[in-house]
Amino acid sequence: MESYSSGGRRVAIVGGLRTPFAKAGSALKAMTTEQMGRAVVAELLERTTLDPREIDLLVFGTVVPSVLAPNLAREVALLPMLPKGIQAYTVGRACASANQAITDAADQIVLGHADVAIAGGAESLSNVPILHSRGFSDALMKASRARSLGGRVGAFAGVRARDLVPVTPAIAEPSTGETMGQSAEKMAKLNHIPREEQDQFALRSHRLAAAGTQDGRLAAEMMTLYVPPKYDTWLSADNGVRTDTSLEQLAALKPVFDRRYGTVTAGNSSPLTDGAAAVILMSEAKARALGYAPLAFVRSYAYAALDPGEQLLQAPVLAAPTALARAGLALANIDLVEMHEAFAAQVLSNLNGFESQAWAERAGLSHPVGEVDRSRLNVMGGSIAIGHPFGATGARITMTLAHELKRRGGQFGMMTVCSAGGMGFAMVLENAS
Ligand SMILES: CC(C)(COP(=O)(O)OP(=O)(O)OC[C@H]1O[C@@H](n2cnc3c(N)ncnc32)[C@H](O)[C@@H]1OP(=O)(O)O)[C@@H](O)C(=O)NCCC(=O)NCCS
Repeated sequence: MESYSSGGRRVAIVGGLRTPFAKAGSALKAMTTEQMGRAVVAELLERTTLDPREIDLLVFGTVVPSVLAPNLAREVALLPMLPKGIQAYTVGRACASANQAITDAADQIVLGHADVAIAGGAESLSNVPILHSRGFSDALMKASRARSLGGRVGAFAGVRARDLVPVTPAIAEPSTGETMGQSAEKMAKLNHIPREEQDQFALRSHRLAAAGTQDGRLAAEMMTLYVPPKYDTWLSADNGVRTDTSLEQLAALKPVFDRRYGTVTAGNSSPLTDGAAAVILMSEAKARALGYAPLAFVRSYAYAALDPGEQLLQAPVLAAPTALARAGLALANIDLVEMHEAFAAQVLSNLNGFESQAWAERAGLSHPVGEVDRSRLNVMGGSIAIGHPFGATGARITMTLAHELKRRGGQFGMMTVCSAGGMGFAMVLENAS
């Protein structure tokens, strides 16, 4: 299988940065995705001293776009210090949106269409658009077209009380109506994942994230974010990481999505989160010419999808073997694994799937991917503790994997991300040092 480069154009990850992640409705609730995205890109340029004139492309992911600024990437690219000629567009692939931004940018570099790109994403779950019902929207449209005061007032004559109830987006599959949490419950049941294992995994996520923050490894990937308009409040660390949680506290939480028989709780789920993250990608030659030491190279990637009505968050099990095959590698060659933690039940289901012959056959393999060595998995915690701003998580995971691979001197790292729509993503990075 050919590795991911063409004519020797390898894609290097040169640097990355993120805002601290904040639980929705908390420290960053007043910030829009544009503000968070602009802040992180501005500071990333500052820290890397990258000359903005070198940037060819900016791609950002977001899942719930603002109706006022739908092309988030372009708003970020219009930062005052950036030239106005930078191509910028926004992508959506649910929780893998920043991964989509990164692979789009990487593809453009491999094709020779770009040498330097910024890719990442932002999400504000504190600011999801709240819509009017169809009945009330129709009345508003009719009123805006009316030529007299009487006509405008008359437009609202047919509005019923229930038309006034606002419509809020649900974290549910449009095709099945099932929420993410209900899907996680279903996966826990189908894959026999006990509550205690989920809580153990959540506890591990908090402990490792707390350790990574304390020893500076995670802190180095984060900026301090000052909150406009007064800039008199700020956030310098993820506010969802609990240094004090325990198995007893986790065990005491009530299930949220199946109150009677369920096992998925607020403690073993990723929280609704605000934040932004971005990485700088360059062709290897350009990185060297500009004097940057690449952190890692993109060795391969793959997307996969399955029926959302089946096991919604299980597609990483299909994407990972394809990414490994494209890299010409097996799990045994992988030194570090980063898996997005939507829910502990999902990570543990994905891990079971990697070991299952049935899932191997579905992925077109004769043997399972294998057992992921837990001491190499999410070594600085994951989305359960750190948080999960949908559009940004993929960039967080990419930079964490690249940094930690370098620190540990491992050769290869693999990441996986599950996403709505029954889709999954996997990417293999190669240490550049
Ligand atoms: C699960 C979910 C509904 C919980 O929302 P919430 O009720 O607002 O969550 P909270 O943070 O307020 O937690 C609820 C309670 O559990 C407690 N809790 C949460 N995690 C805990 C932990 N690790 N240890 C101890 N207590 C914890 C909180 O302190 C809170 O207690 P309180 O009610 O006494 O204040 C929400 O986080 C969610 O929807 N998550 C899934 C998001 C999703 O679908 N993502 C898509 C993935 S692809």
